[in-house]
Amino acid sequence: MSQTILIEEHEELRKIYALNLNTYVGTDVIQRKNADDAIELLRILPQVSLVITQAKIGSEDTAYKIHQYIRKEGLATEMIVLGESKFLKGEVLCLQEPVSWEMLIKQAAQYLGVSLQESQNKIRPDFIPVGVHYFHDIQRTPCDVYIRIKKGPSDYQFVKRIHSKDVFDKEDILKYEAQGLKEFFIPKDYIQYFTTFVTNSIVQKLEREDLTLEDRILTTSNGHEIVRETIQSIGFDEASIELSDASINSMVKSVRNSPQVSQLLKFLFSNKVSHAYQQSHISSLMCHYILSRQSWYRPEHLEILSFVSFFSDVTLKSNLQMQISSMRDLAEANLTDEEKRQVLNHAKECVDLLAGHPDANDYIKTVILQSHGSYNGVGFEDNPSEELHPLSKVFIIADSFVKVLLNSNLPSNKKDILEILSTRFTNPSYQKIIKALEHKFP
Ligand SMILES: [Fe+2]
Repeated sequence: MSQTILIEEHEELRKIYALNLNTYVGTDVIQRKNADDAIELLRILPQVSLVITQAKIGSEDTAYKIHQYIRKEGLATEMIVLGESKFLKGEVLCLQEPVSWEMLIKQAAQYLGVSLQESQNKIRPDFIPVGVHYFHDIQRTPCDVYIRIKKGPSDYQFVKRIHSKDVFDKEDILKYEAQGLKEFFIPKDYIQYFTTFVTNSIVQKLEREDLTLEDRILTTSNGHEIVRETIQSIGFDEASIELSDASINSMVKSVRNSPQVSQLLKFLFSNKVSHAYQQSHISSLMCHYILSRQSWYRPEHLEILSFVSFFSDVTLKSNLQMQISSMRDLAEANLTDEEKRQVLNHAKECVDLLAGHPDANDYIKTVILQSHGSYNGVGFEDNPSEELHPLSKVFIIADSFVKVLLNSNLPSNKKDILEILSTRFTNPSYQKIIKALEHKFP
């Protein structure tokens, strides 16, 4: 689903615009208050397709400020301005106020490649955007692939760029990315066919025994990203279940056969691995390391905790949300009320979602529910109790370790991280787990 940022200070208008954009244009509307808020989000989500904003909020030239940022970063994000902006006249579509919602969705639909089918009172997109990363692990596509070209301030055309018989490699796709392309477009009738094809290709690749560690991690990261996107928009389907199983198996395989941890970390950070997958992979690795030092350890424990690492934050949409690990972080975070609600309930919502995954057993569900120390999957406990499941305790420490490691404002060396954990998790069994991490990594 495409994403649209909306800045409109009048509450009633905001509600009407958001509802109709979502219903008729099928875009996920993210509301923001001003230019700085929108820019901060664009930093995290550069793939946002459209920004709809009032020309000015108070004395701030909101539209102009956002436009400057989009230009500077070379983003493909389009803009619709509500009201006149003297700076953007002729450059960006400015709709005269008052703007009717019908006019707004008509323009938004045009930008997002959606055609209004009034007879059915429902809009169905002709083309569905798919991130360029969908093409990283395939050499051909089962259908023609398009790009979107701007012809005028509010005029778009979809042009065929890859034919269904073309053969290409990752280098070709990286060239498109280097030119700033963020997404290709697939004709709507082929989208299911296309995603099944990509899923099968990645699954086959991950099952190969001869993949290099680098190729395995990059492909698993891609699989993780595609699973996240799919379940955030439509929940589990057959393809995302299969892809998640292959990705988790691949992650377990590379965790078990890892070279030195420090080398692996360097590799994870230096490559194009998403933040979400870095978190999952390192968390699984830390679980492996802790488990291998427990007398009760059995191999299936790693499989359970890797499954948990893969999915525990899968409903969260931004890195900022994933970094939160306490009620205090949550209160202080620069997030909307809805984004905070998602963080607060993410463990519970993940378990609800996993009802659609046949391999999510009771151990997995219990550990995810308890992954931030509470029993019901809501909120964050500062100092979780001794009563939690032993596997939950291992995961809590591994997950907390990774959250500190990946937070650029916190220490990244092991000794300092363990000190932070040791101050926070004071109960004896947690202290014992933290001690296990003090040993030298292999
Ligand atoms: Fe979490």
